[in-house]
Amino acid sequence: MTIAATGLSAMRAGRTILYPTDVEIRPGERVGLVGASGSGKSTLGHALVDKLRAQGAHVAHVPQSPDEALDPLRSMAFHWREAERARTLAPDPARQQTLFNALHIEDGDLRKRPWGWSRGMQQRFVIAMALIGTPDLLVMDEPTSALDPVVAAGTIDLLDAHLADRDTALLLITHDLGLAARRVHRLMVMDDGKIVEDSPIKRLLMAPMTPAAKALCAHRNWLELPC
Ligand SMILES: Nc1ncnc2c1ncn2[C@@H]1O[C@H](COP(=O)(O)OP(=O)(O)OP(=O)(O)O)[C@@H](O)[C@H]1O
Ligand SMILES: [Mg+2]
Repeated sequence: MTIAATGLSAMRAGRTILYPTDVEIRPGERVGLVGASGSGKSTLGHALVDKLRAQGAHVAHVPQSPDEALDPLRSMAFHWREAERARTLAPDPARQQTLFNALHIEDGDLRKRPWGWSRGMQQRFVIAMALIGTPDLLVMDEPTSALDPVVAAGTIDLLDAHLADRDTALLLITHDLGLAARRVHRLMVMDDGKIVEDSPIKRLLMAPMTPAAKALCAHRNWLELPC
């Protein structure tokens, strides 16, 4: 089922921060969303997740900050149970152990509340929650921002392996064009609350059309990056 949401928009404090936007993503497609800080990427991610869930789609969301996903008053075990319940899955300790091992959080104490875990561990826990089950779409907003480079690379490899045999589509929101270049089929560029460019990854990197895309691609040949 192709994922489609139309007329996504947002205003804050009397200002339009997301102009009416349509998003369509095919099953299994991986799409990158890039753009300058403040261009509206996270706003679009939130609006898309809310609308698709309201339409009944199964969407997993890794927000930019783990604070947005974790309730400081609840234990990590509670969060995990809720994530399983949200996907109507029975508790499965083996699945949990596999994901925790893969994300190197097996030593985290599930009885603790989020602030008993480091930021990087919290972020990996939220990624693990998003990988329970087989959602129609996985929206990941700067999923490796709190991780050191080695753990970040391992986490993205895990994500690749996880998506390889599934129809789950991916929207990867990132500042890291090098990371996106290697992992997505299509790139959307945001500028000032609008998607200004939407192209297959190679075309966009080789021949960016808009000033925002040109600015992102300038100075580096991103396809050459060994990541
Ligand atoms: N709650 C809010 N109140 C007022 N303005 C907001 C609010 N949330 C976001 N904004 C503004 O909306 C714009 C888009 O913010 P958003 O967080 O979506 O950008 P972003 O592209 O995700 O940035 P970053 O790359 O830094 O994460 C920014 O100008 C931001 O200041
Ligand atoms: Mg953001």
